[in-house]
Amino acid sequence: MKVFIVAGARPNFMKVAPLLEALHARREQIPELQPLLVHTGQHYDVQMSENFLRDLGLPLPDIYLGAGSGSHAEQTARIMIAFEKACIEHNPALVVVVGDVNSTLACAISAKKLGIPVAHVEAGLRSRDMSMPEEINRLCTDVISDFLFTTDELAGANLLAEGCAPERIHFVGNTMIDSLRKHLSRAAAEPLPFGLEAGIYALLTLHRPSNVDEPATLQRLFDAINAIAAHIPVVFPTHPRTAQRMDAIQLNDGVRVIEPLGYLAFLGLMARARLVLTDSGGIQEETTVLRVPCLTLRHNTERPITCEQGTNSVVGTEPKQVLQAMLRVLNAPPPNNRLPEKWDGHAGERIADVLLAWLSGDRISATTGTGVP
Ligand code: UD1
Repeated sequence: MKVFIVAGARPNFMKVAPLLEALHARREQIPELQPLLVHTGQHYDVQMSENFLRDLGLPLPDIYLGAGSGSHAEQTARIMIAFEKACIEHNPALVVVVGDVNSTLACAISAKKLGIPVAHVEAGLRSRDMSMPEEINRLCTDVISDFLFTTDELAGANLLAEGCAPERIHFVGNTMIDSLRKHLSRAAAEPLPFGLEAGIYALLTLHRPSNVDEPATLQRLFDAINAIAAHIPVVFPTHPRTAQRMDAIQLNDGVRVIEPLGYLAFLGLMARARLVLTDSGGIQEETTVLRVPCLTLRHNTERPITCEQGTNSVVGTEPKQVLQAMLRVLNAPPPNNRLPEKWDGHAGERIADVLLAWLSGDRISATTGTGVP
C-alpha cells in the first residue's frame, strides 16, 4: 500500500519530514504500508533542495519529477503531467501534499482526477489576497482535498465558513514546528558567521514576487533595510528569485548578503537573532516558537495566530513604518509569548494516526468526506 508524500520547494521539506518519520515508525502496525517521498523538482539548486534533505535527515526521494522553473502555468503543468504518470505507475492509496506552493496544487489536482484521495497538510490558511499565487494554491487545494489537516483553530474556522464538512477537518498542529523542535539544539550549536554575536544582529529574508519583482519596490524596501543596518547588522541569505534582481540595489555596509542557507544554519541564525524581517509565511511561525520578534514586510498574513499569540507584527513595506517598528522592537524586552495550541512537536504523529486509521479500514471514523472511497 503506497502513500505518496509530496515535496517540491524549500518550505516543504521541513513539513514532510515529521510525517514521513511517523509513517515509517508505524510500519509495524501495517507492514504493507509503503510511504514514498516524491520530489517534484520545483526547487532544484543544491542550496534550495539537497541541503534541506541532508539537514533534516530525509532519505533521497523515491521519485524525482525534475519539473524545474517556468511561468506558473508551465511549472504547474509540468508537475501535473509528471505526477500523473507517477500515480498511474505506482497506484498510491493516498497522496499527501503540504503547504501552498505550485507543487501542492499540481499534485492535488492530478491525484484527485485519477480518483486518488488527497490529504492537505497546512489546510485553511487564508491571506484573503488573491494577488498571491500561494492563496490561489491554498484555496484550490483545500476544495478538492479529502483530509484537511490544520495548524490552528482559525484555519479550521476558515474551512467551515467556506462550507467544508467538519469531518474532513483535523486540527493536528504544525509539522514545521515538529522539525524545529527536533533540530533546534543542533542548529543553535552551529557557529555564527562574520563574528556575529547572539542577540546583536537582524536576519532578513525576501522573496515574494510583490516585494522583489519590481526594482523600485525592492529599492524602497532596501532603503528601510539600509536604515536598520545603521542600528544593528543585518544578515541576508538571498533567495534565487531575489538574487537575480539585486545587482541594481544600493546596499549599506551593515547588510551582509549571503547565499541561501541550509535548514540547520538558517534555524541557528534565526534562533539567536535580535529580530527577523521577512516576507515568508513559515518564518512567522518559527519565530513565534523561538520567541524572536518578527517584522513581516507584507500587508497581510495568512497566519494571524502568529500576531495574536506570537511575536509577529505585519508592518507593510513603507520604509518609515518598518524603521519605527524595528526601533520599537529594539527598545522592548524580549517576548515571552504563549505558544499556539498543539505546536508541541507531535503534529506528524497525529496526522499519521488519522491516515492509518483510514488506511487500515476504519474509514468511517477517520473521515466521512464525500470524496473518499
Ligand atoms: C516558491 C513558492 C513560495 C515559497 C518559495 C520558498 C510557489 C508559487 N511559490 O517561490 O510559496 O514561499 O518557493 O522558496 O510555488 N530558482 C532557482 N533555483 C531553485 C529554485 C528556483 O534559481 O532551486 C529560481 C527560478 O528559476 C525562478 C525563481 O528562483 O526564477 C523563483 O522560483 P519559483 O519556484 O518560481 O518560486 P519561488 O519564488 O521560489
